[in-house]
Amino acid sequence: MSETAVDPDRRRFLTGTATVIGGIGAGLASIPFVATFQPSARAKAFGAPVEANISNIEPGQQVTFKWRGKPVWIIRRTEEQIAMLDSMDGVLSDPESSASDQPDFALNAWRSSNREFLVLVGICTHLGCSPKFRPIPGAEDLGSDWKGGFYCPCHGSKFDLAGRVYAGVPAPTNMQVPPYRYLDEQNILIGELDGGAA
Ligand code: FES
Repeated sequence: MSETAVDPDRRRFLTGTATVIGGIGAGLASIPFVATFQPSARAKAFGAPVEANISNIEPGQQVTFKWRGKPVWIIRRTEEQIAMLDSMDGVLSDPESSASDQPDFALNAWRSSNREFLVLVGICTHLGCSPKFRPIPGAEDLGSDWKGGFYCPCHGSKFDLAGRVYAGVPAPTNMQVPPYRYLDEQNILIGELDGGAA
């Protein structure tokens, strides 16, 4: 979906209703695991969708949920982080996500149906390590051209704040965007698309 195709009403309510609790910045973002509603163990084993409440995620913060035994990150990007995504193409391997795994609505620079919230499977597409959330631009160990994103310590793959892989690193594709849909302005159902498809 292109930027202009995003439903403006949907974007407005999503942007306007997420609760900002405090002044925590991107550099202080914590990475809590969040309890979700509990489908039965059998349902979980078969990959039942998982509901994620996003109302208390602060700008710049990453929160981790669990779906099908995998970590699923939800990152609430700041306006600055969203704006940065349009300037990343020159350093990325697959900026259009044409060789990567995501629902159709995530075929855009921010790889989500709403620019503010990124939903990603938190597994490196090289050999399955868990990349680290490194949102601070220019971090000393990642180079002065680092704009913030995810860094995999296993073999050095880098991803931007849409999970798009940098060129010249071991990971072959962008990180996976799982199927998900918004139940309302505060809740996302991970594992199911609009219309019920997984
Ligand atoms: S597993 Fe991430 S770079 Fe190798």
